[in-house]
Amino acid sequence: TPIAAVIPAAGRGVRLGPGAPKALRTLNGTPMLIHAVRAMAASRAVSLVIVVAPPDGAAEVKSLLDAHALPERTDFLVVPGGETRQESVKLGLDALPPEYEIVLVHDAARPLVPVDTVDAVIEAVREGAPAVVPALPLADTVKEVEPAAAPDEPEPVVATPDRARLRAVQTPQGFDRATLIRAHETVTDNVTDDASMVEQLGLHVVVVPGHEEAFKVTRPLDLVLAEAVLARRRL
Ligand code: CTP
Ligand code: MG
Repeated sequence: TPIAAVIPAAGRGVRLGPGAPKALRTLNGTPMLIHAVRAMAASRAVSLVIVVAPPDGAAEVKSLLDAHALPERTDFLVVPGGETRQESVKLGLDALPPEYEIVLVHDAARPLVPVDTVDAVIEAVREGAPAVVPALPLADTVKEVEPAAAPDEPEPVVATPDRARLRAVQTPQGFDRATLIRAHETVTDNVTDDASMVEQLGLHVVVVPGHEEAFKVTRPLDLVLAEAVLARRRL
């Protein structure tokens, strides 16, 4: 069965600081979005990439994709995104042709995910999981706090969850198409990943090993790390 990847790339990148929308910022000369699209197209099973562009940037994204070669086997579509990541993914799914029964959702902000991670996610969906996430154990201990009412007030610690049971979740997340579409039609809470919407439907989400290089470019230091990883790969 052919596989499509939806790439939400419509965010501004507020935490990265002033500049172009995050997905259009370059890493060693190439836009982050192009690295992310290539990371999905690197999997031989992926035959369609749907890029969800900044709302006013769809034409620019389309010409970027025209200018950067993708493998012959990979088609792409560009659609404008929404106010939230959740809305942007939904707009991408609205453009998904009916023949794709497995769909990946991958953040443009994770440009360096290795193909082995992509293939591990696909394999687990093929084996029958309705939703699959790549994830890693945490390095830091995590505290739950009572968020401060004002910026200069202290935040009391409420609890310390057992770190051994926690995982940091990455993308691409993989789904049975009908399950993901139902999740996006049913769940209206604000969520930060797609798998949590499937959890809210009461379905099982499966974890496969993630990869350090699938980290999310979020803050300025992440740009330094991403460019160093690319230099090590000689890209
Ligand atoms: N995203 C999107 N549409 C939005 C918001 C986010 O498509 N309205 C995408 C981003 O482009 C990114 C992914 O969702 O690829 C993960 O979001 P995040 O890392 O939070 O990116 P931004 O929202 O752009 O960054 P920030 O939260 O710092 O503004
Ligand atoms: Mg965001």
